[in-house]
Amino acid sequence: MIDIHCHILPGIDDGPSDIKESVEMAKIAALDGIIKIVATPHIKDTLHPKSAIAKIVKLLNNNLAEIGIPVEIIQGADVNAMLDSSLLDGYTINDTGYILIEFPHSHLPKNSKDIIFKMMIRGYHPIITHPERNLSVIKNPKLLFELLDTGLLVQITADSLTGYFGMDVKECAVYILEKGAVSFIASDAHSVTERRPILSGGLKVAEKIIGKEKAASMVTSNPMAVITGNPLNV
Ligand SMILES: [Fe+2]
Repeated sequence: MIDIHCHILPGIDDGPSDIKESVEMAKIAALDGIIKIVATPHIKDTLHPKSAIAKIVKLLNNNLAEIGIPVEIIQGADVNAMLDSSLLDGYTINDTGYILIEFPHSHLPKNSKDIIFKMMIRGYHPIITHPERNLSVIKNPKLLFELLDTGLLVQITADSLTGYFGMDVKECAVYILEKGAVSFIASDAHSVTERRPILSGGLKVAEKIIGKEKAASMVTSNPMAVITGNPLNV
């Protein structure tokens, strides 16, 4: 499996505080069957330079190779959607056009469609992260569906499907999954204890809702298309 959303880099955001914990996270991921992880530090108040993120990705990959943990870390970012589209350069996944964008958890701004269009015009393929955890979308999922004719792609969090974030979030995740709006299931992991880099739990739930093959594509072929910069096979 490939996890396209994971806060695994040490000391850069609210993920692990040191490289030891990053390595432990990678071990947990490997045991879950994850072979590639896109490292996605928050880009919000601090615009970490691409080169600084690359340096930590390299350091972590070297550590994992030394210890023999079969997980590859790939560069990406978890970009605040309110950031001006002129500042997005360097924050795509693996230098492709795909970019993870996070809206405020409290609501979807009225100009969400404009924000997405501006990204599209600049050649980006935005992927909205965990809309099932957005309070506006939970109340009215139509708000999300109205954005999808822009070509916006949807990633839900694996643990939303297991019920970790509560029943409202789970129901919303199941609903948008049933409606065929989801392309990716990712961990959005932050640590080895609270939010762990595990996809299998959410995947099992998704299999029951949309079938094994479709669910598998959300953690295998679709993420592979993203990291190689290819169109999704839909
Ligand atoms: Fe995140």
